[in-house]
Amino acid sequence: MSDKIKFKIDGKECFAEPGQNVLDAATDNGIYIPALCHMKGIKPAGSCRLCNVKIAGRVMTACTTPVAAGMEIENNIPEINDLRLSIIEMLFVEGNHFCPSCEKSGNCELQALAYKYQMMVPRFPYEFPIKEIDASSPKLIIERNRCILCKRCIRAFKDENGKNIFAFKKRGHKLEINIDAKLAENLSDEDAQRAMDICPVGAIIRKEKGFDEPIGTRKYDKVAIGSDIESVIE
Ligand code: FES
Repeated sequence: MSDKIKFKIDGKECFAEPGQNVLDAATDNGIYIPALCHMKGIKPAGSCRLCNVKIAGRVMTACTTPVAAGMEIENNIPEINDLRLSIIEMLFVEGNHFCPSCEKSGNCELQALAYKYQMMVPRFPYEFPIKEIDASSPKLIIERNRCILCKRCIRAFKDENGKNIFAFKKRGHKLEINIDAKLAENLSDEDAQRAMDICPVGAIIRKEKGFDEPIGTRKYDKVAIGSDIESVIE
């Protein structure tokens, strides 16, 4: 315990390992900070901005900020929760998310966050972008209408030789996720399921497999996201 770093989140005394980021340390201390692009065990990318917290009056991403001794972090406060809600709304209007027909419904982290932060009508206009679906791989469908460009699949999913199977293509507003057609040919059913599970939304979907578990009985249909850690939103 002695070499642990002492810090506070919303006034609660917490402890972190040296070098640990605020997001992982919060989770270890039983405090929920929402995240879409980060997963424990992979290098943080800071791309979704959902994990924004306030540190010394500045808004910063918890996943890319290392804990420092004596740090006082504001997490579950109205200003930060509204910022998170606005990011969730932006993600919804930027894509085409038709939750009722999505195989990931009930297991989708974006949908679960929209419920948790009580999204009603987004404050931004819908873009209704035209996106192409790539169903050319034997085991997976890339459903770009739902992709939030979080890069989780690129960072967390490699083949057995450590090669990336997913990559970004194009730039700016046209940026899109792609799958390496050759490497994708060798994916096992287990690999395909792992890729689908890594994706926080329904952008990576297994082929010829779906709706085994009925919508309404899935993970976030039963419990709010983060409620195993903390569920109160101010
Ligand atoms: Fe920190 Fe996405 S989880 S920016």
